[in-house]
Amino acid sequence: MKPIKAGLLGIGTVGAGTFEVLRRNQEEIRRRAGRGIEIAMVADLNTARATELTQGRCKVVSDANLIVNDPDIDIVIELIGGYGLAKDLVMKAIANGKHVVTANKALLAIHGTEIFKAAQEKGVMVGFEAAVAGGIPIIKALREGLTANRIQWIAGIINGTTNFILSEMRDKGLDFQTVLAEAQRLGYAEADPTFDIEGIDAAHKVTIMSAIAFGIPVQFPKAHVEGITQLQAVDIRYAEQLGYRIKLLGITRRAEVNGRAGIELRVHPTLIPSRRLIANVEGAMNAVLVQGDAVGATLYYGKGAGAEPTASAVIADLVDIARLSAADPEHRVPHLAFQPDAMSDIPILPMEDITTSYYLRIRVADKLGVLANVTRILADATISVDAMLQKEPDEGETQTDIIILTHQTQERNVLAAIAQIERLSTVVGKVAKIRLEELS
Ligand code: NDP
Ligand code: HSE
Repeated sequence: MKPIKAGLLGIGTVGAGTFEVLRRNQEEIRRRAGRGIEIAMVADLNTARATELTQGRCKVVSDANLIVNDPDIDIVIELIGGYGLAKDLVMKAIANGKHVVTANKALLAIHGTEIFKAAQEKGVMVGFEAAVAGGIPIIKALREGLTANRIQWIAGIINGTTNFILSEMRDKGLDFQTVLAEAQRLGYAEADPTFDIEGIDAAHKVTIMSAIAFGIPVQFPKAHVEGITQLQAVDIRYAEQLGYRIKLLGITRRAEVNGRAGIELRVHPTLIPSRRLIANVEGAMNAVLVQGDAVGATLYYGKGAGAEPTASAVIADLVDIARLSAADPEHRVPHLAFQPDAMSDIPILPMEDITTSYYLRIRVADKLGVLANVTRILADATISVDAMLQKEPDEGETQTDIIILTHQTQERNVLAAIAQIERLSTVVGKVAKIRLEELS
């Protein structure tokens, strides 16, 4: 059988990794795919660098449109990033009847519904294994391996940059900016690293997983997003003393509020018991915990970023397309796991409706009755206390911290209680609130 021909848009970190792994393992990949996979053309703004990387093995152009419009190209691999030009190129490729492989989670979290609809209508495939958790085959696991299950929740460390920053800050005492610069140097960070540190990248990924797990459209604007920039070192230390680690988690979960079904979709720093496997995922590694009704909990772990781990996922999609491109489009695995006419309109819940546990740090004047006032407010708000830590004031200090871990409660109760606590004359400044998940 003739090799299937791919055109690569963007030969940066992931593009170069994809080109190299395909070259190095071409024989193994051909034996698996049943035919060769050839990158026939590469488009990149920096044609000199692209020519050097490809070493005369394929045609190099600066205009990506030459690839999406070339009738000889079967698959377009989009590795430019962003949602302007990338969307335009992907939509043109689909309109021209080409399959698409992309690692671009931002594009799919925002325009996925439109892209998958266009692909469905044209009978072409859009592969996006690399868009979530880099080299971990989590899309395949959710869409195929766990297909028997009613998925109950997913919680994942799905941004390598922020996990790297949190690990290095805790273990080596390095400052935030130094570690972020290192993550950029290692090729983990997004072109705009605020996407990483503000939780946006993780929210793109959990939005995609939520759609596949629950058969709902991709709805990034409804995700609750908090990054790690407001996280204080003191909270990381107190969490450790209480037996917890703080991780940036992407969480999506089936829930019921006042008898109505909904979906939680959120990214925020989260306390996790230190004894959980996922709490010990360090550096740029990713891990995704999935709870299904039949299988129970399954955990997927691996490199979430970097050239070759991500290339591994890109090439897995190329092989799937090489195998399935001749199959009847109606009998391929649906893009979002559920058949397009069987999607659910179950709503994403507003953040006030979610239920979880909380870590609260309250800075107080060291006076009699302070703790009683705080606990009375919590009790009145039906919030039950799980654990408490009251620090002795430092030498010469008149203020101290009270740390409270709550049992599960609704976010709206906690927000109301915090507002009251902050009005107490003995409370200094704002109450720090971090959500806590037992993940049991
Ligand atoms: P890079 O910035 O390293 O690579 C992008 C490449 O695209 C660069 O070589 C860039 O050229 C080129 N490019 C930019 N504009 C154009 C254009 N108009 N025409 C042709 N080429 C163009 O990004 P990454 O490889 O890191 O990321 C690519 C995608 O993969 C993104 O969507 C990212 O989110 C995703 N991803 C990245 C991971 C990683 O670990 N890096 C992991 C998982 C997903 P120039 O440099 O000259 O501007
Ligand atoms: N910037 C992303 C991360 C790349 O740090 O996880 C992988 O998607």
